[in-house]
Amino acid sequence: MTLQNDLLLRAAKQEKVERTPVWVMRQAGRILAEYRAVRSSVSGFIELVSTPELAAEVTIQPVDILGVDAAIIFSDILVVPEAMGLKYEMIEKRGPLFPKTIQTQQDVAQLSSSPEALHYVTDAIKLTKKELNGRVPLIGFAGAPWTIFAYMVEGSGSKTFSKPRRMLYTDPVLSHTLLEKITDTTIQYLKAQINAGADIVQLFDSWAGILKPAHYKTFAVPYLKKIADAITEVPLTIFAKDAYFAREWISELDCQVVGMDWNMNVEETKQITNGKTLQGNLDPCVLYGSFDDIKKHTVKMLDEYKGIHHIANLGHGVYPDIDPDKVKCFIDTIKEYS
Ligand code: CP3
Repeated sequence: MTLQNDLLLRAAKQEKVERTPVWVMRQAGRILAEYRAVRSSVSGFIELVSTPELAAEVTIQPVDILGVDAAIIFSDILVVPEAMGLKYEMIEKRGPLFPKTIQTQQDVAQLSSSPEALHYVTDAIKLTKKELNGRVPLIGFAGAPWTIFAYMVEGSGSKTFSKPRRMLYTDPVLSHTLLEKITDTTIQYLKAQINAGADIVQLFDSWAGILKPAHYKTFAVPYLKKIADAITEVPLTIFAKDAYFAREWISELDCQVVGMDWNMNVEETKQITNGKTLQGNLDPCVLYGSFDDIKKHTVKMLDEYKGIHHIANLGHGVYPDIDPDKVKCFIDTIKEYS
């Protein structure tokens, strides 16, 4: 089906666009009362993610309510470890918890490398595509191998992720075996999302910035490369949060879009990213300010990206206590800018 609004895809492919497309990381979720209403009708986050009809409904909410130029499938990066055999729980106000973690070769050997169990995500994608009816593209996603590795070894969120970082030093062989397995599963999973209808896919390397550059080069980049080489059907975005040192390496990969957090300087990034489309990068905290300040900072950001293939976004996910009208102000400012 041809898309009525394909601005995001054209920007990703470095084609001409009439205006900058915009979407917001974590646009579907707790900022919207409409999301909270659906969320409270089920037992928890995991039930919502694994019920295709509901996942499709909350995926489309921000398209209707905020007017974004793309939908992102409502899911989580942690469904991959779950499909591999590590069940997780989502603890209210604390985040994810894995009762069982990976510590030994034997633990890795017991993992599945097939994402078979994730048919609920591909079902949600098919339903979403049907209900979007060509209005905007649908973004599929997965966690990058290093970030998934971090959760599988640590067992929860963490400020330091010292267990997975320790493993890179104490058992590089085990680390590579696990990273390889995650990568293979992720490639199959992304291809399944594309077959189901995802128009573009994004890798979230949320914990990229806690590695030293040499470790990122050894334990993250080769696996990003393997995924980038395998995903040929649709554009690929790689967002390595806080990894300012990795921008050049990522630009050498066969991906189309490089995600930027708000610490990354636009002009400098442009110089080292080889003509890739850049995505980002307003500090989400700007959205706590007044409407006037939001407009001012958003226009300033757009001016910085002038002459660059750009997909407007925040530098990371929108925080749950931000007023949706402020998010809408950010989006409308981008749509009105020329
Ligand atoms: O709108 C969207 O962007 C689509 C949905 C989406 C979610 N998670 C829904 C979600 C996406 C793209 C993610 C990705 C994700 N999940 C990442 C990468 C992006 C990032 O933020 O760096 C990470 C690290 C996770 C893991 C995760 N999921 C954590 C740490 C938590 C708890 C803390 C938090 O931010 O809420 C989650 C839970 C989660 N994922 C929620 C939502 C809407 C909140 C759960 C709820 O509603 O009860």
